[in-house]
Order: sequence, then C-alpha cells, then structure tokens
Amino acid sequence: MKIIINKKAKLDKLAAQEIINLVNENPKAVLGLATGSSPIGLYEELIKDHKANKTNYKKVTTFNLDEYIGIPIDHEQSYHTFMYETLFKHLNINLKNTNFPKQDDPASYTKLLEKKPVDLQILGIGSNGHIAFNEPGTSFDSTTQYVDLAESTIKDNSRFFDSIDDVPKRAVTMGLKDIMMAKKVILLAFGKNKAEAINTLVNGKKSEDCPATILQDHPNLTLYLDEDAASLLKK
Ligand code: GLP
Repeated sequence: MKIIINKKAKLDKLAAQEIINLVNENPKAVLGLATGSSPIGLYEELIKDHKANKTNYKKVTTFNLDEYIGIPIDHEQSYHTFMYETLFKHLNINLKNTNFPKQDDPASYTKLLEKKPVDLQILGIGSNGHIAFNEPGTSFDSTTQYVDLAESTIKDNSRFFDSIDDVPKRAVTMGLKDIMMAKKVILLAFGKNKAEAINTLVNGKKSEDCPATILQDHPNLTLYLDEDAASLLKK
C-alpha cells in the first residue's frame, strides 16, 4: 500500500494525471468510477484536461460502483445522474460504454467485470469504512448484490436530499471481491470524518467489520489523503 498525503487540490491533480496517462497509453482503458463528494475535484481536473489537451475517451469503458434502489435512474440524486452531470457530459465518452450495476440483475455486473477487468479503480470511503455500498459486516467474498444501507450512511448521504426520509434505504453495489479484481486502486479520502476509517484501513486488523480493510491485500493500492484524513495515522 502506498500513501500520499498532500493538499486536496494537489491530490485531485495527481489522481487525474494517473487516469489521463492511462487513457493516453491505452485508449481502450477500463475505468472504475466512484460517486460521492471525494472524486468531484478529480473529475473537474479530467474535464479541464479534456478541454485543453483533447484527451480522448471515445473508446474508454467505465464501470460505476453502485446505484440507489428506490429512486428512478433519472432522479436528480441517482448516481446515473451524478455521473452524467459531473463527468460524462463534459467528455467525449460514448455513453454506451458507461456501466452501472443493474437494478434488476446484479449478478450480470460481476460477469461483465470478469470479462472486462477494471484497469484503474477510483474509490472513496464511508466514515464507517464502507467502500462502494459494502457496509460493515459485508462478506469479503461478496459480488454485485442488493444491500441495505447502514444508518450512518443514510445520515451521511442525507446532505444531498431534502430530508433524511428521502434517502433511499437500499442500493445495488459492486461487491468487495469485484473491487479487488481491479488491477490498480486509488482511494481518495479528505476531511476529519474519514480519519478513523483510514486509520483502521492502514493499521487495523483485516476484518469484515471495516470493509475497506480488504484493500490491505490489494497488490496495487494508493491512498490519496489530505492532512485531516491522515490525522490519526502514526507519523
Ligand atoms: C457513498 C458512496 C461511496 C462513497 C462514500 C463516501 O455512500 N456509495 O462510493 O465512497 O459515500 O462519500 P463522500 O466522498 O461524499 O464522502
């Protein structure tokens, strides 16, 4: 595991450059993408670069980590909408090559991922150590499946909805085993509320109580942390 600690703006640029280099080297690269607030700065950097340097996403394939159940995919807070508005509409990506776990057939997503392994997976982390929507207690052998969201996740994500009652209670998510298939993983974490989960990921015992600890076994993982997210790590 590699750890980079820096200012968020610098990390956004560094992470974006990893994607840009990959796409330039391999125009058919397969990207694993995340939602949430953590990757927004990185996506802004990709858009800036695309405008300035015409990095070509025409043949790139993307797999998103997760999607809510219980709101339509064109809902303003769906992850389909988030990805379209935040990134896809600003790049020359072919929307037919952008994939999300199927709300009516989760298992088919794992099969697709096996056929087309992700070259670079971008991840955020929940304050309770979840990755994608794999909440504490999720099996390390999990593949794409339906899940119930933890109370803490519903609370964390209520900032995007009018009220906490509007936050969906279920989701369909790439499983932990699926995420581990990615050839390279970049995990972004910013802010004090991620410090405990990051410390457990780095120094804790590998346990399904903190799903992110499965990443301790990943052969090519880099954590991109600001000072706050890294604040509980030993110097
Ligand atoms: C959500 C997403 C995760 C994301 C996490 C952190 O629940 N399903 O993929 O990593 O929240 O979100 P944020 O980056 O906004 O802190």
